[in-house]
Amino acid sequence: MIEAIMIGAGNRGIGAYGSYVIEHPNELAFVGVADPDNERRHYFQTEHKIKDDMVFHDAEEVYSKGKLADAVFICTQDRQHIHHVLKAMDLGYHVFLEKPMAVDPHDILKIQKKAIATKTILVVAHVLRYSPFFNTIKNVLDEGHLGKIMVINHEENVGFYHQAHSYVRGNWRNSSIASPMILAKSCHDMDIISYLLDDTPKRLSSFGTRSHFKRETMDGVPNYCLDGCPHQETCLYFAPKVYLNAGDWMKFPVSNDLSDQAILKALEKGPYGRCVYRSDNDVVDHQVVSIEFDHETTVNFSMSAFSNKITRHIHIMGTNGELWGDMNEDHLTIKPFGKDAFYVNIPEGKGGHGGGDHGAVKRFIEACHQRIDVNHDLEIAVQGHLLAFAAEKSRVSGETVDFKHFVKELS
Ligand SMILES: NC(=O)c1ccc[n+]([C@@H]2O[C@H](COP(=O)([O-])OP(=O)(O)OC[C@H]3O[C@@H](n4cnc5c(N)ncnc54)[C@H](O)[C@@H]3O)[C@@H](O)[C@H]2O)c1
Repeated sequence: MIEAIMIGAGNRGIGAYGSYVIEHPNELAFVGVADPDNERRHYFQTEHKIKDDMVFHDAEEVYSKGKLADAVFICTQDRQHIHHVLKAMDLGYHVFLEKPMAVDPHDILKIQKKAIATKTILVVAHVLRYSPFFNTIKNVLDEGHLGKIMVINHEENVGFYHQAHSYVRGNWRNSSIASPMILAKSCHDMDIISYLLDDTPKRLSSFGTRSHFKRETMDGVPNYCLDGCPHQETCLYFAPKVYLNAGDWMKFPVSNDLSDQAILKALEKGPYGRCVYRSDNDVVDHQVVSIEFDHETTVNFSMSAFSNKITRHIHIMGTNGELWGDMNEDHLTIKPFGKDAFYVNIPEGKGGHGGGDHGAVKRFIEACHQRIDVNHDLEIAVQGHLLAFAAEKSRVSGETVDFKHFVKELS
């Protein structure tokens, strides 16, 4: 049994990881919680039957008491991660760290060095990598069905309503509050590409803009939907329509109280009630990254807000055949050259991100028991993050980035 403290009992802390313990009570126990939000802290305490003397208003109170458990789960917002992870590792905690690891590339390297120096286990919540969908693809590649991998076309379909919720109105809308979209959202994809290929990038280039979710798209609208918007019958993003019909994962950031009345109240002047064409968002709504790897594989990645579904599509082309996958489906399609196509079933995954949320926790628990070594997992996570920073550099500068030179300059 691994005993852990939850630092940040928000959407992820409660929904993605707290839920693991409910299903696997003999593997992991949350014996402590820190969160300044009274309702969330209280909810988590009750859910996990945490003793009063292990309930904290702030993570600093946890750290001031030395080491109180085997591990911490750091599920605070992006810009807070660096402080918490360094502090926790210094105290000897094993750390399950939400992505992005940090919002500055130097800090990524600092975290990696600290994990090595303190010999603590660090698993980054790159949950897709631990999902049955991507694990199955990795097995197919490792078994050599496609031969040498020459091309990967990978697509991240964010979903128009998800973009509006998280990247126009929500916590990751502005790169100075959170980070650029390629880091906040697509560091998962940079990680997946690194994980599947297990190769080092040579050079890359990226393009992308915020083209739709901006003031110029719509004239004559108020700042808040509930201030008499003339388009409320037809607008896809009219906040009351969106949030009264949304899943809990979208309602929870709006209001801890999920009742219709509380949601409507929060939308009046709250961030999620803003017109999507009048927010202070600056992150892109579509971006592409092209990467060439050392072993000559080329990768095209495309992130788009403009999709109906939230899913990822991947098409891998090798010297001996092709593979297609859609994360919303239960199988992969493989077509070796000159042979019949066949399907490979994806095992069903429990929990969010196609089973990836729980898969990541399972891996962390295994590592804490010293049953597996996760050093290489961390190396891949670091490369994925650095790829995201390099892509953003290319997008902003308009130049191709030499990846090794980019990394060398950081250190
Ligand atoms: N792995 C994934 O796929 C994935 C998906 C979504 C979000 N995330 C990441 O997870 C993290 C958390 O996201 P979220 O949506 O749960 O955010 P959230 O805002 O719902 O939760 C963060 C919590 O941290 C608490 N907090 C703030 N300061 C604190 C402190 N000093 N000590 C303790 N707690 C403190 C807040 O009160 C809040 O409850 C973010 O970094 C986000 O980018 C990862």
